[in-house]
Amino acid sequence: MDALVVTKANKLNGKIKLKGAKNSILPIIAACVLTQDEVLISNCPMLSDIRNMLDIIRSLGGFAQQNGDEITVCCKNIDPSGIDKSLMKKIRSSIFILGPLLARCGEAQLSMPGGCEIGKRPIDLHLSGLRQLGVEVNEDAFGSGCQLWCKGAPKGGVVRLKYPSVGATENLMMAGALQGRTVIYGSAREPEIVDLANFLNTIGARVYGAGTGLIAVDGKKCLHGARYKPIADRIAAGTYIAAAAVSGGDIFVEGAIGDHMDATLYKFRSAGVHIEEDNGGIRAYCNGRLNAIKQTVTLPYPGFPTDMQPILVAALSTACGRSVITETLFENRFRFAYQLERMGADIVLDGSNTAIITGRKLHGADVYAQDLRGGAALTIAALAADGITMINGAEHIDRGYECIEKELDLLGANITRTKSE
Ligand code: EPZ
Repeated sequence: MDALVVTKANKLNGKIKLKGAKNSILPIIAACVLTQDEVLISNCPMLSDIRNMLDIIRSLGGFAQQNGDEITVCCKNIDPSGIDKSLMKKIRSSIFILGPLLARCGEAQLSMPGGCEIGKRPIDLHLSGLRQLGVEVNEDAFGSGCQLWCKGAPKGGVVRLKYPSVGATENLMMAGALQGRTVIYGSAREPEIVDLANFLNTIGARVYGAGTGLIAVDGKKCLHGARYKPIADRIAAGTYIAAAAVSGGDIFVEGAIGDHMDATLYKFRSAGVHIEEDNGGIRAYCNGRLNAIKQTVTLPYPGFPTDMQPILVAALSTACGRSVITETLFENRFRFAYQLERMGADIVLDGSNTAIITGRKLHGADVYAQDLRGGAALTIAALAADGITMINGAEHIDRGYECIEKELDLLGANITRTKSE
């Protein structure tokens, strides 16, 4: 296992250049199954989740590789029965392959996806949506050793999502990309959904209404290849802004898209961070200690994003006063708080979904990352903590941040990577 050794940071200063959004690139890689032509995706970070998604494409018989920040995928010949089921369990986003496979091949045999231990994360909305599109879905299928067996190419139809699930919206958009008209009521509205829609339109599908709660997809039989540049990663941007905030620094996040971060930037401004947006990115600077934020509730976009919740908790653990954060999307997303407490944080969990944080001085400790954004939160806290912090389980952080220690070192942090037992 890798560990990050973090020394209390002086004021972080300088410029950091954002790469493409992990949560855009993962469904876009899956969408490459919809065309036999080559697709080039640029400005991609090197992340373990992306490597796993490319392995899944290869296990289907497709070509997939990443050279630096450019990904090439070509699904000229694919065999749906070839999918590596052990790979499916490694990441949550492996479920994105279901919709495109059904659209292209009319069948899919998958195991249940894996992912961060932040909650149960069922896929019932994905499956009920596919059933509403006429797909036969069998779960816990016997004999084939898989947990999910689907038959029938979606031919369009109307789906009503009872919750604006990001993944279910994306899977259903891709399921409808090759034929018929698919209408999704109650769709999620995240910027990554709009990015996927833009990609599908670039390869020849017709997607309308992305970014709203009603999306229509007109499938086109033959989609073509493309070169595509995904949007910048708004969660990575928020993470680096938090790093500047807790260290009293002044940074410029090049490529950050303020319009995708309204709720996040509003919270940072409430905590006393100065935020300046221009067309090239976001400048964030902070003089002195953060203010507490009375109440924050995570919500589907455009509400405050759940992926920023651990990072905001870490920042507010050093603030002046008491803050309350309620998590409404995932039932087990406060686990990292127990690790923050080892650093001296004062966090009271009220039930399973509300954290009451009283800011104070933190100190270094030996802590354990248990999921991606929880690990990022520990890194942010360690920058502000007196002394040295060892963050074990750095591989969790590597799922969503490309070499976070190098990025933060560019801003003046002192972080090294080592092996831990
Ligand atoms: C995506 O996960 C993101 N992952 C998550 O980011 C993000 O936290 C989440 O959306 C919410 O914004 C990727 O895009 C790869 P959901 P997803 O379906 O699609 C429940 C990160 O750190 N639900 O919108 O899995 C679910 O349990 C990751 O980058 C069902 O009940 O999220 C959760 O409570 C973490 N049934 C809520 O909906 C379903 O079939 C939101 O889940 C699907 C979801």
